[in-house]
Amino acid sequence: GPAPGQASGAKKGAGGRITMGFAQVGAESGWRTANTKSVQEAAKKAGIELKFSDAQQKQENQIKAIRTFIQQKVDVIAFSPVVESGWDTVLKEAKDAGIPVILTDRAVDTKDTSLYKTFLGSDFVKEGKAAGEWLTAAYANEQGPVNIVELQGTTGSAPANDRKAGFAEAIRADGRFRIVASQSGEFTRAKGKTRAKGKEVMQAFLKSQKDINVLYAHNDDMALGAIQAIEESGKKPGTDIKVISVDGIKDAFVAMTEGKINVVVECNPLLGDQLMELAKKVVAGESVPARVETQEGVFPQDKAAAALPSRKY
Ligand code: AHR
Repeated sequence: GPAPGQASGAKKGAGGRITMGFAQVGAESGWRTANTKSVQEAAKKAGIELKFSDAQQKQENQIKAIRTFIQQKVDVIAFSPVVESGWDTVLKEAKDAGIPVILTDRAVDTKDTSLYKTFLGSDFVKEGKAAGEWLTAAYANEQGPVNIVELQGTTGSAPANDRKAGFAEAIRADGRFRIVASQSGEFTRAKGKTRAKGKEVMQAFLKSQKDINVLYAHNDDMALGAIQAIEESGKKPGTDIKVISVDGIKDAFVAMTEGKINVVVECNPLLGDQLMELAKKVVAGESVPARVETQEGVFPQDKAAAALPSRKY
């Protein structure tokens, strides 16, 4: 069996300093970059030693990173699961090693909620609903049909699943609204090494759909890529095609002030300080709420200029 103390992950390293293993999704978006910076800065401020890993949007890489953290006997593991399903085995390994897990930003789909201590992040369904509600209000006095194309986030991820569902729910009752095409743009702006991204998927939509009234993008990076595609096709984003987006990065606020995005539903990436607070508590064995939700707003175009100077990411 393990040497005394070995099975207990709650035992802190030299000097009582907490070590956190953080398995990040990747660096796919402006939101993610801000999130990573927030976590790194907050760890430093809190005196927590951070072992940081970037999974490049691959679940297998995240699982490997978590297994490495378990071997290294970190005090706490935090991670933002790239997709929702398929985590039970590795989370069970962490639990058996006595290492508490905190989900940040994205949730996992599991029946066994004892596999993690808490979730810190956004309500993505609410975000999708807010996007849909803005649309129904904006078109209150317009004739239908309203043809919508949707750029989904990473397939199988919580924000893609939930933003899709929340939006669909908000527009469902009104027959004028039709989602005529919906495809993943991987939460990124333009083509990387392998898969198609926001810009390329929008180019395909513009070819296959004659009459697009609205673009709903699950994040700002895809919206910004799509805007380029719309402009290159000779149309005006924000006017000929209304653009709805999620996140609220500075670039999106700039695009709003230029009239190219009509509304941004905020998703807050600055989770670092709250994460470190929660980490200290779970390592100390204190109880924490099962869910800690971030506060977010909706920014229509006419509020963008006033809000831009105070945007933090
Ligand atoms: O999980 C949050 C989402 O991940 C953000 O909305 C998106 O930009 C990021 O890639």
